[in-house]
Amino acid sequence: FENYPERTIVQRPIVVAHRGVPSLAPENTMAGYHLSYELGTDLIETDVQRTKDGHLVIMHDTTVDRTTNGTGAVSELTLEEIRGLDAGSHFDEEFAGEKVPTFREFLEGFKGKDVLLLVELKGIGIEEQVLQEIIEIGMEENVVLQSFDMESVKKFREIAPQISVGYLYSTSVPDSPEQRIEDAERMLNYATSIGARLNASYGSLSEESITYMRQRGLINMHWTFRSQEPFKDLLKKGLIGPITDYTQWLSDGPTFI
Ligand code: G3P
Ligand code: CA
Repeated sequence: FENYPERTIVQRPIVVAHRGVPSLAPENTMAGYHLSYELGTDLIETDVQRTKDGHLVIMHDTTVDRTTNGTGAVSELTLEEIRGLDAGSHFDEEFAGEKVPTFREFLEGFKGKDVLLLVELKGIGIEEQVLQEIIEIGMEENVVLQSFDMESVKKFREIAPQISVGYLYSTSVPDSPEQRIEDAERMLNYATSIGARLNASYGSLSEESITYMRQRGLINMHWTFRSQEPFKDLLKKGLIGPITDYTQWLSDGPTFI
């Protein structure tokens, strides 16, 4: 994999806004993304899927049931049907009328702004289409792609070597700091970042393993921080990429960190 993006040794925590800021606004909506941006997040995380008629939209679940007033699988609904749904009222009437964003709308909303977009592919087979939209809008330098599927990660390495790609562990996170370090060497062949569920990986996050990954240029992300104790503990140990539902904690500043 020649021409892979140069690794950056990150010197400070980079905070990732998980689906926007779902503790304050409906998840995966433009209202939530803009609010997390205003709160000072470094990356905005989101989830991309394809509709029945071939359009890319933002949705975490495979169905629209939990986060809109509709029902059905994203893959069985057309763009027009999905855009007709209300994605805000389930959270609070204040957000009534929020729409399910298209991927293009999400990208365009942050073009030229000082924030990176962490784009997770939900499902395989949409890699080329995702890449095409990123290139059309000129956002190659502003996105990090990520997937739970190693085949997707490898595919991006082939078709978009200029773009950073993250691998997400599903259940098989190495369970000791030593194994974590060993696995980091393997992951360096594929990814610029790795991510894991916090509760499945806490035991392997020693100061030593965190420092090792940081010094090797492997950005180490974990989700989802919903309480401050592990957040504070791991930031003190040097964790780089906490993914949180509470971007507003950033406003607590250095005393919090
Ligand atoms: O960024 C990683 C994280 O978002 C993956 O989990 O279930 O929230 O998409 P999930
Ligand atoms: Ca996600």
